[in-house]
Amino acid sequence: MIGLIGGSGLYEIEGLEITKEVSVSTPFGEASSAYKTGTLGGIEIAFLSRHGIPHSIPPHKVNYRANIWGFKSLGVERVISVSAVGGINSSMPPGSIVLLDQIIDMTFGARTSTFYDKNKVIHVDFTSPYCNEMRGLAIQASRDTGLPAKETGTYLCVNGPRLETAREIQFFSLAGADMVGMTAMPEAALARELEICLLGISVVTNYAAGISDKKLTTTEVVETMRSSMEKIKSLLKGLIAHIPARRTCPCKDALKDAEL
Ligand code: HPA
Repeated sequence: MIGLIGGSGLYEIEGLEITKEVSVSTPFGEASSAYKTGTLGGIEIAFLSRHGIPHSIPPHKVNYRANIWGFKSLGVERVISVSAVGGINSSMPPGSIVLLDQIIDMTFGARTSTFYDKNKVIHVDFTSPYCNEMRGLAIQASRDTGLPAKETGTYLCVNGPRLETAREIQFFSLAGADMVGMTAMPEAALARELEICLLGISVVTNYAAGISDKKLTTTEVVETMRSSMEKIKSLLKGLIAHIPARRTCPCKDALKDAEL
């Protein structure tokens, strides 16, 4: 079963034939919503709406641990996480779809970011925060479907919920960020701690603060996400159909040699 996390503007996947809604209780509390399970193009999927249904959980209040733990308890080994971001890199204008390969975490300290804060001391390798095997499959799907996606991208994660200042964005740009968003962390680190392969797909919904003269609005974010849905759906379908049963990436062994 493949996990799918929908972010702002992506609350359901058209074409996903839902057969069950599963509420999972975890040692960390409740996930953002029930997991909708069913099939998309014949492949089993578990869909979770990151901000709840209806959208009511702000990014800094999402129970990331429960969300990721819930997938693990459903037997999910691979999760595709879709998110809305503000574009910093001029080669990624609104409407761009980016397959993430790097993260800069600016939420540290503000969110509970590990499952291992009691009895065990674990330091997982996070050199490549996303699964490169999954990203490779997504690159292939993007080429096959003729749907251009940026094949790499650095996501800088802020705590929010406010948007950024123009000077912060300038600083993030100098640091190497291509885009800014509020949800990639600790989601990615938690997935790694449970040896789940994570693919991050971002939709650039707006220019980040100060990149254009336009005032930033949430309406723009949701509308761009909506108008990108067809592209996302085609990409997901093409990708999901080609995910092999067995994993050959390092994600599945993330805890090996990670304990102190
Ligand atoms: N900043 C932070 N998060 C976002 C943005 C943004 O401009 N757009 C969508 N999510």
